[in-house]
Amino acid sequence: MYNEQIEAAKEKFGQLLEKQLKRVEAMKAQGDFVDYKALEKIVIGVCGGDGIGPAITAQAQRVLEYLLQKDVKSGKVEFKVIDGLTIERRAAEMAAIPEEVLAELKICDVILKGPTTTPRKGDPWPNVESANVSMRKELDLFANVRPVRIPELGIDWTFYRENTEGGYAAGKEGVHVTEDLGIDFTVVTSQGCDRIIRAAFEFAKNNGKTKVTAVTKANIIKTTDGKFLDAFYRIAKEYEGIQADDWYIDIMTAKLVDEKRRRDFQVLVLPNLYGDILTDEAAEFQGGVGTAGSANIGKKYAMFEAIHGSAPRMVLEGRDKYADPCSVIRAGAMLLAHIGYSAEADKLYQALDICTVTEKKLVLTGRDTGCTGEEFANYIMETIEKL
Ligand code: IPM
Ligand code: MG
Repeated sequence: MYNEQIEAAKEKFGQLLEKQLKRVEAMKAQGDFVDYKALEKIVIGVCGGDGIGPAITAQAQRVLEYLLQKDVKSGKVEFKVIDGLTIERRAAEMAAIPEEVLAELKICDVILKGPTTTPRKGDPWPNVESANVSMRKELDLFANVRPVRIPELGIDWTFYRENTEGGYAAGKEGVHVTEDLGIDFTVVTSQGCDRIIRAAFEFAKNNGKTKVTAVTKANIIKTTDGKFLDAFYRIAKEYEGIQADDWYIDIMTAKLVDEKRRRDFQVLVLPNLYGDILTDEAAEFQGGVGTAGSANIGKKYAMFEAIHGSAPRMVLEGRDKYADPCSVIRAGAMLLAHIGYSAEADKLYQALDICTVTEKKLVLTGRDTGCTGEEFANYIMETIEKL
């Protein structure tokens, strides 16, 4: 029974295996992380994306250009604006990332990206893959680093979310075997586990952290999460003085709201989907996903973005100029630190704290009852000037 359907599904599975094994070979051949100091010029791509993206990203660019003005003038840093990563263009070309846009992204060393629309069932858009997910795969941005800091609550977490594997690796390659049976795939590789886990421990080591926590569901998802957890404890042995423990995702979700326990967590490393979910929960304590920046780091490229959506309704209502640019500006601070401008990054973090927490001379409300993104960016630059 169902012979034909089973054969068709097997063929698709075979193709998936071939593709993933190719990826393993590519990972094996990969060199080390780029050394930005050794580059003659650093090209920063600014990719506005969709919806409110272009408006808020333009403000982040102004702030970065201000902080890097000396090196922009000398030619050491160049900004490159990349248009065209819009849902209209992606739908017209039926591509997650239009080819020309991808070619431009690949000229850059680092990218600051605004939000992009991911079509979902019921939208007027065709079902193109998420631009985010595609960019992470195309540029092999395997480490999604998401810090959440709330000093007054004693919270200082850094999430290292694996960004290219798990349920996302073959998210669009699931198979409807028959009308009644659907199968999705989740993918894990030794190379993929090792590089994200090592990145988390290296961060801990270089930043005075004393503990790294793995989060899985290895009691149930035995093969893939099991492999991740084995790799975790194997690599942990190389890092003397850093404590390693692990939790299952369900209880970890609960522990993040446990005021007595949550301060104990420092660096967390986790497979893709758990990382997706847990980082939204974590960001909520800090004031919501709108406040969080996110770094997507690979060995050759790195991309920094806001983790919220593109808010197309704000654009329809003509309110994009009132959209809060702080998430992308925060992503910009992460970008600065990543390419070696840590003094500039620190200033920007400080100014963001002053402008959004302690002083709050201007307030953004998302409409004309508050200031515009441009006014807020000016406020941030004036604050930096006074530091
Ligand atoms: C994120 C987002 C993306 C993800 C979406 C937009 C595809 O939720 O960056 O966390 O699922 O990774
Ligand atoms: Mg998410």
